[in-house]
Amino acid sequence: MENMKDIMKGRLLEIKDEALKTIKEARTLEEFEQLRVKFLGKKGELTKVLRDMGKLAPEDRPIVGQIANEIRDELEETISSEKERLNNELKLAKLNKEKIDITITSKKKKVGHRHPLIATIEELEDLFISMGFSVVSGPEIETVENNFDALNSPENHPSRDMSDTFYITEDILLRTHTSPVQIRAMKEMGAPLRIVSAGRTFRFDDVDDTHSPMFHQLEGLVVDENISMANLIHTLDIFIKELFGPDMKTRFRPHHFPFTEPSAEVDVSCFKCRGKGCEACNFTGWSMELLGCGMVHPKVLEYCGIDSEKYSGFAFGMGIDRITMVKYGINDIRLFFENDNRFLEQF
Ligand code: DAH
Repeated sequence: MENMKDIMKGRLLEIKDEALKTIKEARTLEEFEQLRVKFLGKKGELTKVLRDMGKLAPEDRPIVGQIANEIRDELEETISSEKERLNNELKLAKLNKEKIDITITSKKKKVGHRHPLIATIEELEDLFISMGFSVVSGPEIETVENNFDALNSPENHPSRDMSDTFYITEDILLRTHTSPVQIRAMKEMGAPLRIVSAGRTFRFDDVDDTHSPMFHQLEGLVVDENISMANLIHTLDIFIKELFGPDMKTRFRPHHFPFTEPSAEVDVSCFKCRGKGCEACNFTGWSMELLGCGMVHPKVLEYCGIDSEKYSGFAFGMGIDRITMVKYGINDIRLFFENDNRFLEQF
């Protein structure tokens, strides 16, 4: 009897070894099924051995039974995990076979180039930010009130004429300058305040080398207590030196703007000879009219609800197109608006 137990144990272990070996070699789902039937099925190897349980001593039966159960569990687990592994492999192979290559037909899109006007605007804004200004923006479509009335521009001012300005209705127009942003800023933020604002502006202008009905300006405004003309001159002088170089000088000439009093136009050393005198500057050494500026008219402050007894301010406006042209040596404003990459890529 002792012998029978050992024989059955030995047989069970043999079955286990053989089964594990063949399971590892199986390559298809059918093969796994066949192996399952062969070793674990009703007429399988394991069942065959267990049929001889009757020949065992009663006390040995649970021992051999337990071994048989453990082997059955192990084989079942191995078959199902191997089956799953194979299933995954097959799925992956199928996916790979059915993969669609979506990369082959696309054509490379050409990337454009940063516009020199935008580069200038960002440079100007950075300079003013470094002097404590904030950057604000205003709409290109404005009210006649903000564009003219609030800026103390009289009814009979020529720039209000239909032939000078693009009206949308009687009360709405394409802004003729960035100065209406002054009004918006003062009404929204009150005093004190220190802002710049750049953007597109529009006037009836025949197109030539230096004129375009659409152009760009940068507006600046400072309102605080005790602001004087000295602050204005110093600020613009520093700004010009930072932008064009420390050897550049500024010259303030009296002028008239309805919204400033007093007003001035600013000339800057000639960009070509830097002040010595050359053909480009008619041997004067000056580049004319780079900026308009002045002390904010008390009427404009009061219009925006700011106490002109307590506060004063200065303002300035400059043409960004012109500054960009002299900075990069561009001689035709039309080049800015053709969007030709061969032009833009040079900057
Ligand atoms: N808005 C004026 C123009 O377009 C430029 C200007 C002049 C702006 C004087 C100002 C200023 O802020 O104070 O010609």
